[in-house]
Amino acid sequence: MTTRNEAWTEYWQSGALHSCVGSLDEGYGGAIGDYWRRTADSFAKRAAVLDIATGNGPLPKLLAGLRADLQITGIDAAAIAPGWWSASAFPQVEMLGNTPLAALAAQGRSFDVLTSQFGWEYIPRPESVQQTVALSAPGARWYLVCHHAQGRLAQVAQAEVDGASRLLAPQGLLQAAITLLPYVRLASTDATRLNADATAVAARIAYNAAITELGQAITSSVAPDVMIQARQGVHQLLQRAAQDPSFGAESTLRQWRSAVERSVLRSGELVSHALSVADMDALRTTLPADAVVNVNELRQAEGLLAWAIEVTLPKRWA
Ligand SMILES: C[S@@+](CC[C@H](N)C(=O)[O-])C[C@H]1O[C@@H](n2cnc3c(N)ncnc32)[C@H](O)[C@@H]1O
Repeated sequence: MTTRNEAWTEYWQSGALHSCVGSLDEGYGGAIGDYWRRTADSFAKRAAVLDIATGNGPLPKLLAGLRADLQITGIDAAAIAPGWWSASAFPQVEMLGNTPLAALAAQGRSFDVLTSQFGWEYIPRPESVQQTVALSAPGARWYLVCHHAQGRLAQVAQAEVDGASRLLAPQGLLQAAITLLPYVRLASTDATRLNADATAVAARIAYNAAITELGQAITSSVAPDVMIQARQGVHQLLQRAAQDPSFGAESTLRQWRSAVERSVLRSGELVSHALSVADMDALRTTLPADAVVNVNELRQAEGLLAWAIEVTLPKRWA
């Protein structure tokens, strides 16, 4: 399993329904939900729908609720854990984890409607185009909502990467807390001894500097939540470590560090896979020449959210 796949597997196993927790509401209200509700109305009766890079399946869940006649398959390369779904409760929905698009394309299946919500753009092009074509029935329609490089979600993700990278830096809060740990008990029991120990004093100065720098970053960030939670969590952890020497504070801090590393990877992926206007022009050249392509931008009060790419393939293949 790749690190990237591990990062997504860990995320979906935590039970999140979709990948933009904190930026979009669970019910997919707003422009994106409106888009899917409008679009689902136009799907042919009993259409076979494939949701590509589905995660824990917010889109299959939404579509199944809107249209009981659809046969929906959700696939994702990661091991998913869609808590809302079971084959008995949703016999018209199939959810397949550990299934990269290429693996499904190799099975020779075909679908009338191919959707994706913030997933298709994560798959390298032009292979993603070729695999999606291979899975398309004649006359199939694609509805791909993709991250926009100039959009609000990419902007928030970049701020999350910056904040998390600050926490992970050698002088950042997590390392400063690990270095301070051996002395926190001494600080509460014997401050005089602590002040006589140059290494302990240096650790305390470095920790205070990390806290000050983090406070400044929190005030100026558009997405400070990760930094706020880390500051609060580290503070409580150090207090507990001072009172309870048996508490495994260092291993907890190391686990947090690897969780933050994985969140940097996921948010960084969003930023690096978000499509710019130039990417969109390049994408058009990889689509089948006889396809009808329609590209729009989805916006709501917070600003620009996503690209909505619609492709209709010809009824007969050339
Ligand atoms: C941002 S998440 C998907 C979000 C999900 N559609 C939603 O609406 O919440 C991107 C997903 O792409 C998946 N992915 C990346 N490469 C893939 C591939 N080649 N085939 C299938 N899924 C892939 C990842 O495992 C990850 O779950």
